Amino acid sequence: MSVGTLHDDRGEEYADLTSHDTFVRAVPHATFTRMRREEPVAWVEEVDGGGFWALTKHADIAAVSRDYVRFTASRGIRIEQMAPDELEARRTMMEFDPPEHARLRRLVQPGFTPKVIATYESAFRLLAGHVLDAALPQGELDFVTEISRELPIRLLCRLLGVPESDAGLLVTWGDQMISNADPEYTPVVIDKMDTEEYRLLPFRSPAALEVFRYAEEMAAERRSSPEDDIITTLLTAEPDGQPLTDLEFKNFFTLMMVAGNETTRHTISHGLIYLLDNPIQMEQLREDPAALSVGATEEILRASSVTMHFRRTATEPVEMRGKTIQPGDRVVMWYPSANHDEEVFERPFEFDIRRRPNDHLTFGTGRHVCLGASLARLEVRVVFEELLKRVAAIEITGGPDRLRSNFINGIKHLPIRVTLA
Ligand code: HEM
Repeated sequence: MSVGTLHDDRGEEYADLTSHDTFVRAVPHATFTRMRREEPVAWVEEVDGGGFWALTKHADIAAVSRDYVRFTASRGIRIEQMAPDELEARRTMMEFDPPEHARLRRLVQPGFTPKVIATYESAFRLLAGHVLDAALPQGELDFVTEISRELPIRLLCRLLGVPESDAGLLVTWGDQMISNADPEYTPVVIDKMDTEEYRLLPFRSPAALEVFRYAEEMAAERRSSPEDDIITTLLTAEPDGQPLTDLEFKNFFTLMMVAGNETTRHTISHGLIYLLDNPIQMEQLREDPAALSVGATEEILRASSVTMHFRRTATEPVEMRGKTIQPGDRVVMWYPSANHDEEVFERPFEFDIRRRPNDHLTFGTGRHVCLGASLARLEVRVVFEELLKRVAAIEITGGPDRLRSNFINGIKHLPIRVTLA
């Protein structure tokens, strides 16, 4: 069975990027391909009469990500316009430019260097082994709910310093927030209901209230008994000679939890689909993980591009490919398109675990480049190394069931049948 091919919106070349529904069937790659060719800096109209610039070329997205003077992150990083009070209430380090951004990022950066993250490898391998050994013998199972959804959150709990027994709660709240356009995960669907009462909360989601309450409890606990973990670091830090405010701490905690969990989970789910779609490469990976698993991880990251966009706002008039972007205009960077740009990647729609170079923009670039990139890479690599050791064959038996979101390229369910090795 062949699912998850990279072309699956053929025939629908003008997909509406503003609609979450568009992405339920597939990432609209035919539209992106056409935009790269015909109008790589395109004005996309919104139903309310507004609009934004959509960037689809690798070079433009890299340039805008690096140019924090002309393209600020401080006015919001998702497509939605935010009122000043909303922006203030929900601001994290993602919505700051240098130098304020650096002061905040420095608080957590030391815990995420490749060297520090490498020290988690054996613990994560053990964890992955436990989860796989509990799930795979069932024979028929949902790869997402039993495996990929279970793993990143548990490692994140250890890093943050929260009890692993709360992983289930945290992942449920995370789903409700980041998947705020999908009725399977949240009763408060962002584009279908009035979310005005939640406008000051992350993702306009009531689940954020639960996360905030949880973060407050954790903060109280760590204040009385500090540990060597991220929560304690955040509570004791004084980035501007002042400790973080209560709201800053809660937003920071929420960001770390959401950013580090859903993204990696969906990447792992896509990874399985790509490998099963390319059985020869999967066999080669099983036979020689030492040589191939780093490259396979990069290719899975490129092909899946789980975070589909972030946004900047122009601060001055900028000419780009014949278009004039005006101050205040929103500029949306479509990473799946950058990662399939024919000018950068040969045969961009082929999955190739030996691809070199593989300069994908899945983690963005510039000052805001993903803080958790090393962590995500480690998790994806180790999961597949451990999985392939344990199985002789895997077959997808349904779906995949995709998330309703133009922000996260997510898979909600992926039923599989497994034959153990
Ligand atoms: C495959 C998994 C992941 C993907 C696709 C991903 C994607 C991204 C992207 C594209 C950005 C850049 C945002 C921008 O330019 O505005 C980013 C930033 C960020 N990511 Fe990730 N991420 C992943 C995993 C993680 C993990 C595991 C963590 C760990 C906690 C994490 C934490 C963050 C944080 C805190 C930022 C903000 C950095 C800043 O503003 O300086 N991410 N991520």
